[in-house]
Amino acid sequence: MKEIQVNIQNVYQTVSPADIRTLDPEVAESLTKIHNATGLGNDFLGWLDLPTRTPESLIEDIKDTAERLRNECEAVVCVGIGGSYLGAKAVIEALNNTFDAYLPNNNPKVFFAGHNIGEDYLYELMDYLKGKKFGIIVISKSGTTTEPAIAFRLLKEMLESQVGRERASQLIVAITDARRGALRQLATEEGYKTFVIEDSVGGRFSVLTPVGLLPIAVAGYDIAKLMEGAARMQKSTVNNSTDNLAALYAATRNALYRAGKKIEILVNYNPKLHFFGEWWKQLYGESEGKDHKGIFPAAVDNSTDLHSMGQWIQDGERTIFETVLSVEETRHSVIIPKDDANLDGLNYIAGKHVDEVNKMAELGTRLAHVDGGVPNIQIVIPALNEYYLGQMIYFFEKACGISGYLLGVNPFNQPGVENYKRNMFALLEKPGYEAETEAIKERLK
Ligand code: PA5
Repeated sequence: MKEIQVNIQNVYQTVSPADIRTLDPEVAESLTKIHNATGLGNDFLGWLDLPTRTPESLIEDIKDTAERLRNECEAVVCVGIGGSYLGAKAVIEALNNTFDAYLPNNNPKVFFAGHNIGEDYLYELMDYLKGKKFGIIVISKSGTTTEPAIAFRLLKEMLESQVGRERASQLIVAITDARRGALRQLATEEGYKTFVIEDSVGGRFSVLTPVGLLPIAVAGYDIAKLMEGAARMQKSTVNNSTDNLAALYAATRNALYRAGKKIEILVNYNPKLHFFGEWWKQLYGESEGKDHKGIFPAAVDNSTDLHSMGQWIQDGERTIFETVLSVEETRHSVIIPKDDANLDGLNYIAGKHVDEVNKMAELGTRLAHVDGGVPNIQIVIPALNEYYLGQMIYFFEKACGISGYLLGVNPFNQPGVENYKRNMFALLEKPGYEAETEAIKERLK
């Protein structure tokens, strides 16, 4: 099996190979900080060797639990937010049939909840689940996050009223801290099957733990292959050499940042990668955006966004660069037919695969962007399958750790996320927030 590739030639109009190489000593230092656990946030490095240290017995336990839910449920709802949902969502959307929700197959439909506080969203989900055999995977490392807690309370009550409390407890799986938090206590009291999120693995680095692996296995995908791909990337991103793709990507994007490119757009030409972009945005946004520093991570889906964001990217403020995800092979084959009347003028591409046109849209756009002052890094992915997704996940995680240290921040905390919570709790008059409630009411007068 091949490895994904990283091409950086299209950044040389903005930063030269020499500019990137000047970061070598800093990259070496960042790698040392990661491998020797001597940098900021060094108690959150558990993700580093997950692909090679996860015991076979855990993978088997996850597979067995997934098989049980697959056999017993028409639908499984994964409840979680941020790092407790985006990785699984990204992988499942990349691998699923796009129209799976409408297909009459035997797989349980996998839904997500708890990643918003949408009243209509929750109503409509529960309306769909009414009378159906469903299970719940509730995921929260802290076990106290408000958004998933609300969704879980609603879904748990609904499940219990449909099948009874005892049966419901067999259809709920909780993934949380080993000891702390309300969810651990509830799981213990109700006798739910549980999996542990280790202290040393932060939410956005947790897709290769049960957090991501269980939902992915429930959706029917090969988690061993995912781990195999990740393990390959783990092994090839240890040394500070030109073969270390994570180091190359981290150095290149930081050289661009230092040259004034403050925004990075992750671009896909395959709609199946939309949620991979969402996962990546969280990974880089929460890891790097602190101390008033950090590349702003955005994502676009092309060709769709060539007809919306395309204008800005080509011609707006020149503070952006892009990282393009190029998938080499499609899963299916669709040939553009010849039409005798040719009223749409498309006969010049008749006989071609749809993807040949897509690839020319991609190449044409990348060249236009270079000419327009938007450097691009290209990540070449041989195919969208578990193995390469595993490589991509580990690649981006490792590069994120290196990048955070190049930037001089702690890539593994997220102190800024607490500010909205404090205000929300004050506004909702949560017990324990009396002083904040008084202050916020005064401010809103
Ligand atoms: O990356 C992170 O740590 C966060 O995005 C968390 O995953 C998110 O806030 C959810 O937290 P929890 O799993 O504790 O409910």
